[in-house]
Amino acid sequence: MNRHPAYLMLGVAAASLFSSVALAAEPDWRGEAIAMLKRDFQSMGQASYERIHEDDLQALCNKYSNTPPEKAAAKMMAAQLKTVKYPADGQLMGDWKVGEKIAQSGKGFTWTDEPGIPVGGNCYNCHQISPKEISYGTLGPSLFNFGKLRGGPTPEMQKYAYSKIYNSKSYNTCSNMPRFGHVGALNEGQIKDLVALLLDPESPVNK
Ligand code: HEC
Repeated sequence: MNRHPAYLMLGVAAASLFSSVALAAEPDWRGEAIAMLKRDFQSMGQASYERIHEDDLQALCNKYSNTPPEKAAAKMMAAQLKTVKYPADGQLMGDWKVGEKIAQSGKGFTWTDEPGIPVGGNCYNCHQISPKEISYGTLGPSLFNFGKLRGGPTPEMQKYAYSKIYNSKSYNTCSNMPRFGHVGALNEGQIKDLVALLLDPESPVNK
């Protein structure tokens, strides 16, 4: 069979296209996306580019779609727990009534907010907490009866609640929960008040 030269040329072109596709490395989509963010993100007020810059932990979680290899995840978790700063006076529980207000509030930390004003915890966005609040999100588990179910405000449980709120990734490497103390959103006193909301036997959470 006699092929027309044009067909032959097409064949050669197709073959070389194929081989160049096969040889080319997988495009670096992550790198390109990060470069695009860096180029296009406009810092406004306190909402600066630093906020979306991924740290080591976020890079690991992003790379493995939130399920990094076990060893790497455990190492990262231990490092996160080390970042938790505990109150100097050793007191981990504050006032549950103030804690309830902090859990309700989603105020602060946006580019229109004055830097330094107290920031809310926004806990109800993801958790059921006091049964008196019927509007809550379900991304996180219900914290109703938290103290009752965990054996009350024992020193161990207070330490766990404080550490979890301070740095949620201390116990779950790729947790969806923000690292409230670690990123400087909530201060020591506010975290103590939230610990009381969850653990104080007088809190509506445990009534
Ligand atoms: C964006 C959603 C989100 C917000 C906001 C959030 N959490 Fe969470 N939280 C989670 C998720 C998801 C989990 C379960 C996975 C995990 O343990 O990391 C969780 C787990 C917890 C746990 C551990 C529960 C257990 O059974 O041991 C505590 C305590 C907790 N959150 C308290 C809080 C408090 C207090 C606030 C407000 C300062 C808060 N969370 C805000 C998503 C959130």
